[in-house]
Amino acid sequence: MMALAGVPMGLRFRVLDHAADCCAQDVAEFVRGEFDDDGALMRFAQGLTVATFDFENVPAASIARLSKQLKVAPNATALATAQDRGIEKQSARELGANVGAFMLVDNAEQADQALRDIGLPLILKTRRMGYDGKGQARIRDQSELEPGRQSLGGTALIAEAFVPFKRELSLVAVRARGGNMAFYPLVENVHIDGVLALTLAGTAVEDKLNQQAKSLARGIAEQLDYVGAFALEFFELEGKLLFNEMAPRVHNSGHWSIEGTAASQFENHLRAILDWPLGKTELRQPTAMINCLGAMPERSLALDLADAHWHDYRKQPRVGRKVGHITIQAESCRALADQVWDALAVLGMSAWQPSVHAALERLRTS
Ligand SMILES: Nc1ncnc2c1ncn2[C@@H]1O[C@H](COP(=O)(O)OP(=O)(O)O)[C@@H](O)[C@H]1O
Ligand SMILES: [Mg+2]
Repeated sequence: MMALAGVPMGLRFRVLDHAADCCAQDVAEFVRGEFDDDGALMRFAQGLTVATFDFENVPAASIARLSKQLKVAPNATALATAQDRGIEKQSARELGANVGAFMLVDNAEQADQALRDIGLPLILKTRRMGYDGKGQARIRDQSELEPGRQSLGGTALIAEAFVPFKRELSLVAVRARGGNMAFYPLVENVHIDGVLALTLAGTAVEDKLNQQAKSLARGIAEQLDYVGAFALEFFELEGKLLFNEMAPRVHNSGHWSIEGTAASQFENHLRAILDWPLGKTELRQPTAMINCLGAMPERSLALDLADAHWHDYRKQPRVGRKVGHITIQAESCRALADQVWDALAVLGMSAWQPSVHAALERLRTS
């Protein structure tokens, strides 16, 4: 998607990936190799103007190594900070963000302590490498604590209070080399089993929350001397935003911006790392993004929907894997809610989920 945004602007791309079926090879020169293989990194870097990443589990050491050869953004320290859930939550708290109760857990004693201090229910997560709800265990009862901890490797974990949120929101922001920033609107996200299923852009969000999210994004980006796009994920609870995590990259909850704004997150990420002026991030009309999980739905059904845009990543089907998305736009929030509802039903997707229903009701009355 980044290459698809950059080619019309005159850019050409090379991509490094270890997977033979790397889907970007259709639109970019492909170097196959491991992210920590110096030879592969150097073959990749040869002749490039600037390098970036769209996957946050690239080793920070590889980004540091590449930075000796060429311009790289975001920087390795920013990546390393965002790779550790403990460090990112701590830094956000120091910058004044509300963060739910959490404790670092490296052994059984600390797990017991977390249970006493935080209470049930509790979520245990690996501090590093988790994504799409992977590397997490929900602890509803004391008897689940030790098996849960063991299932996650026993150490380098974080225990978090389960947040009974009203809804989940995220903010995609972009910071240019000179420090100028652009912000997409806060959008509402529905996750099912820890995986993003639906993003709604245009649904009402209190102005106060938008301001809070932007000011935290600015604080984090300045502290990390961040260049490029990044996302902040929040829980909304009792009129407040609780920070959950940061993604140091373009984000799935920003995919709606391809059709929903003048300059998508991909375009603005490229503009930022190239030191070009940033483009407009205002929402053009209410826009929804439906993730295709596991396999793509029937194409003819999706293309028959009004104002639907089909994005097929050409990834091998696998249970729960993000293999594509569908963007839907409408003149009004009410019309969008109806169209998304119909689309989910037609495509045999998650319309029946209570969390989807509640989000669409909020959109309808926005
Ligand atoms: N402390 C929490 N309380 C309630 N729900 C949570 C909590 N942590 C995670 N979740 C749910 O799981 C999803 C994925 O967790 P997250 O921390 O964002 O990890 P990742 O996206 O890296 O897998 C969240 O979007 C949310 O739906
Ligand atoms: Mg997340």
